[in-house]
Amino acid sequence: MTFHTLNELIADGVRGRYILVRSDLNVPLDGSEVTDDGRIKASLPVLTKLTDAGARVLVTAHLGRPKGAPEEKYSLKPAATRLAELASFKVTLAGDTVGASAKELAASLQDGEALVLENVRFDARETSKDDAERGAFADELVALTRDNGAYVDDAFGAVHRKHASVYDVATRLPSYQGDLVHTEVEVLRKLTTDTQRPYVVVLGGSKVSDKLAVIDNLIGKADTILVGGGMLFTFLAAAGHKVAGSLLEEDQIPVVQDYLKRAADAGTEFIVPTDVEVAGKFAADADHETVPADGIEGSSFGAQGIGLDIGPDSAAAFASRIKGAKTVFWNGPMGVFEFEAFAGGTRAIAQALTEADAFTVVGGGDSAAAVRTLGFADDQFGHISTGGGASLEYLEGKELPGLSVLDR
Ligand code: 3PG
Repeated sequence: MTFHTLNELIADGVRGRYILVRSDLNVPLDGSEVTDDGRIKASLPVLTKLTDAGARVLVTAHLGRPKGAPEEKYSLKPAATRLAELASFKVTLAGDTVGASAKELAASLQDGEALVLENVRFDARETSKDDAERGAFADELVALTRDNGAYVDDAFGAVHRKHASVYDVATRLPSYQGDLVHTEVEVLRKLTTDTQRPYVVVLGGSKVSDKLAVIDNLIGKADTILVGGGMLFTFLAAAGHKVAGSLLEEDQIPVVQDYLKRAADAGTEFIVPTDVEVAGKFAADADHETVPADGIEGSSFGAQGIGLDIGPDSAAAFASRIKGAKTVFWNGPMGVFEFEAFAGGTRAIAQALTEADAFTVVGGGDSAAAVRTLGFADDQFGHISTGGGASLEYLEGKELPGLSVLDR
């Protein structure tokens, strides 16, 4: 695929033109506080480049999954406020997406300023399956750019969505790939072609069903897959072990068994924890103990025990594999890292990535938030992806609508 680049757009001249930019400002919030501004910081360079060049920038973005109508808790206000704090240019937030406020503020926007339109998902047409409905919404977004507009897709985290602000606007305006999308795609390409070996993939997160497609695609490509997080219990059950009250997706056991068999034939090694941290309840202050992975029911909590992290032996074994790798991709925390008592596995993996002499990629909103919450800095890793679902779908080998629509 080839794309028109942001530099081409800037070279064509943007002063005074309305440039519609899709950014990913979908950040975690605690009330009205942004708890991880990684995506906002990652969106800033493109917005700065355009405003420095005199563009009038209209930023579209989503936050959360509102049901197609305005809802205060999904307002982009906290994200826009944080953007304004970080930006060297003026940032205003419209009170709606394509309504009277957006129109009025767009009309008074000056060269070198940015206007953030309210959450695109406040309009049900954004995510509609109906092409005509999405198209009608895209027309209204495009109308804000007047007669010499252009579109820049810089929302890597949303390229897997066939949504009006990602896909349909690109069919209506001269369209360009933002630098963030470009960087993300280049990084992920290194994980799929000419990958330096050993290639170790660390997968965590709660649900194995979310990861099935990527696991399927990694068999035969990765040398080693380390399994942690809530999904490890389905792997343990697939090996015939009892997991007490731990998270288990029983219907996925046969699928996992099939993967384990195929992986053995294809030369991909799955490593499942040998010990786990089991708690008496799901709480930050829960009593807990380390038990062998095949003896979860033997903990003092019996059948009530819930595994909330990988154990220290497993963390050390995983870390040693990571340190011996040349390429590492990590998606999904190893345990409930939000509770300090169950953050050990995730911290050990993050630490090992920072010490490995390897190209390391942290993918996914949760993993990115985890490393920052645990005090690691972005520059300790080769790359921290802004895309959760998007990076997984890329590695699954799926076509991503937000990328293919920009193909010229
Ligand atoms: C993400 O958080 O991965 C992106 O912002 C996409 O959000 P979505 O899964 O709600 O489409």
